[in-house]
Parts: sequence; C-alpha cells; structure tokens
Amino acid sequence: METVKFGIIGLGLMGREFASAAMRWKHLSDMEVQPEIVSICDINLTPEMEQWYREGLSTVKQACTDYLDVVNNPEVEAVYCAVPHNYHEQFFVNIITAGKHLMGEKPFGIDRRANDAINRAIADNPEVFVRCSSEFPFTPAMQRLCRMIGEDVFGDIIEVESGFLHSSDMNVSKPINWKRMIQYNGEYGVMGDLGMHPCHVPFRAGWKPINVRAYLSNLVKERPDGKGGMAACETWDNATMFCEAEHPHGGTFPMTIKTQRIAPGEKNTWYLTVRGMKCSAKFSTKNINRIEILKYDGGEQAWQCIDMGHETTFKSVTGGIFEFGFSDAILQMWAGFLYELKNGRPKTNFSGCVTPDEALLSHKLFTASLESHKMRSTVEVI
Ligand SMILES: NC(=O)c1ccc[n+]([C@@H]2O[C@H](COP(=O)([O-])OP(=O)(O)OC[C@H]3O[C@@H](n4cnc5c(N)ncnc54)[C@H](O)[C@@H]3O)[C@@H](O)[C@H]2O)c1
Repeated sequence: METVKFGIIGLGLMGREFASAAMRWKHLSDMEVQPEIVSICDINLTPEMEQWYREGLSTVKQACTDYLDVVNNPEVEAVYCAVPHNYHEQFFVNIITAGKHLMGEKPFGIDRRANDAINRAIADNPEVFVRCSSEFPFTPAMQRLCRMIGEDVFGDIIEVESGFLHSSDMNVSKPINWKRMIQYNGEYGVMGDLGMHPCHVPFRAGWKPINVRAYLSNLVKERPDGKGGMAACETWDNATMFCEAEHPHGGTFPMTIKTQRIAPGEKNTWYLTVRGMKCSAKFSTKNINRIEILKYDGGEQAWQCIDMGHETTFKSVTGGIFEFGFSDAILQMWAGFLYELKNGRPKTNFSGCVTPDEALLSHKLFTASLESHKMRSTVEVI
C-alpha cells in the first residue's frame, strides 16, 4: 500500500473528521494508497486535543501551534487545512508554494480576491495537487443520480434545484461564533459557509450559472456574545440564488441554489432535484439512501422510490444492504482525493473532489449574488 504523509492544520470539527477517516482507512477494501498523518497543528492546541489525535494515530510525530512548522516539515507531502476563512489565502498559498498537495476547506478563500491569490499560487506550482472539500455527492444514492447526469438521461432540462439547509441558528439564544462574524467568515456569510456544497454537482455537470438574482436575509441581527452581553451578528443567514444556467450541450434553464442557516425543520439537509423532459430525479440527505426517479415516455408519470445500500464508489467492508451516513461520505471523499492524487484522474467524473476552477466559479457566483442583492437586480456571473 502506497502512503501519503499528511499534516492537518486546524484540529476542530473538520480536522477530527479527517483524522477519524484516516483511523478507519482499513474500512476501504480496494484502495492502493492511504493517508498517514504525521503532523497536527492548531493555534489553540490543548493537551486533550493532542491526546485525542495521538491516541488514534500512532503515526503523529509533530504537534504544533504554528502552521509554518507543518509547511516547513520536509516529511509532510500533503496538507488538510480546515481553519476559519480569514486564514485560507495565507495558509493555502504557503502550503502550495512549499510544494505540498492540498485539500483546502471551502470556501477556498474568504472572498474573490483571496481566491484569486490561491489560484495564482496553484498556477505557479502545477505539480501540486489541490482540491476543495465537499463530501455530500459521495453518498451512493447521489452517485447514482450523478451517473444519470453523465448518461444524459434527463432530456432537455426544465429546471434544477440545489441547496443546503440548516436550522440550528433558529435558536436566537445560540451564542455567536466565528462562522457568524464577517471578519472570520467573510462578506459572503452563509454563501461562503455552505455555498460550495450545493454548487458541487451542478458545476461538475457543466451547468454554469451565467447570471443571478439573489435574495439575502440577515434574520438575526445580534446574538449572545458568550460573556453575558450581546454582539452584532452581521452575516447573511440565508441566501437564495435564482440563476440562468447554461447547459454544456447548449440552451439555458433556471437553476435555484439555496443556502440557509435558518430553515425551519431542517437539520443538515443537502439536496438536488433535476427535472427534465424525459426523466426527473431527486435526492436529499433527509432520506440519505433514497433516490426518486420519474421516467417519462408519453405514458403515466410516476415517481419510483429506490432505496440504496452501501453501494459505494470506493468499495468498503460494509455489507451492501447497510445504510450510509455522513462519516461514510467523508471517508469516500478522502478516497476520492487520494485516488485522484495517485492516478492523475478521478475514478469517475463525479467521484473527484471539487477542483480549484469549480471553487473559482462559486466565488464568481457569490460575488455576483452580493451585488445582485444590493442592486435588487440580475447580475452577470463573471
Ligand atoms: N466540508 C464540510 O462539510 C465542512 C463542515 C464544517 C466546516 N467546514 C469548513 O472547515 C473549515 C473549518 O471549520 P470547522 O467547522 O472545522 O471550524 P472549527 O472552529 O471547529 O475548527 C477550526 C480550528 O482551526 C483552529 N485555528 C484557528 N485559527 C488558526 C490558526 N491561525 N492556525 C492554526 N489553527 C487555527 C481553531 O483553533 C479550531 O480548532 C472552514 O473553512 C469551514 O468552512 C467544512
């Protein structure tokens, strides 16, 4: 088994997800490459945090608080960087310039300017493999929908709806954290926080938004500051982006992309619906194993509900009829990253991670959406 030696920068929520995936790499049964985590870094490294990582990963040799120690560690071949958005530009640029492969978290730069700087570093270091994290398309039911996109079964597309909806911010007494502060999360607000996820599959399908009319909402304007007072909460909570999308085979259709932190009744719902003249299909993580398909050949219009099991793109030891969950999607995404790093191409078009070009397109869309909301008009996505 070939090994890629990794450093993790940012040991919070997502850092732990990657570490946990690496700890159960044996779960994947036909991988020819595996991650070996040799270095961990967090500015707020605590003894408990370090212990958690070291207990699960005997391969860790370096634990540090300065990300440059990871960047300058000659043993580190690749880095997973999961830090607040205000650090993406500086950290990603330094990692790439040091010649290390990178899985960077979304939104891949706090704004368009930061994303441009990251893309310049990528262009200057073409030998470095860089991808952006987004795991939901790796669920088996969604991979099936993706195969249908690849097989072009939908006919002329009537419309596409894609979204990512949370409800935890409905609780107005939830204290503020960095994801609700412009200086750390960025002007995009919820679009920067959640937006890459619903863009992933449409962009990989080649459905390109060419203009957008966006509506952004700041529903909760202040939150407890965690110290007994209140703090201004200026980030956009919800965003609805009505796009005109171009199909790679010609023609346009309406595509609606929603990112909401305040969506009543939703927990962590990522969905995609494609409606076409010959076929339609729906997927939502609310019912993560199910794909719904409606084929139309002039006869009855009936939705078929198909439950799928653990029929993953990257084979695992789990029985084929068992259900799939979030941490399985993370493991599959990492398999996708390492497969493409080793082979120079993804196993299938939709089992590759988000490319820097796709991340750039999301920045173009979010930047145009900010302008659209401000001007109350449709804005070109350029
Ligand atoms: N792919 C997904 O599903 C998903 C989900 C949540 C968050 N994210 C993204 O992951 C990234 C991190 O989010 P999170 O939820 O893990 O946040 P988090 O707050 O749980 O973790 C971030 C960690 O970074 C550390 N950190 C902050 N500044 C640092 C610095 N200068 N140097 C080193 N470490 C530093 C913090 O101490 C913290 O432990 C963000 O880009 C976010 O958008 C992705």
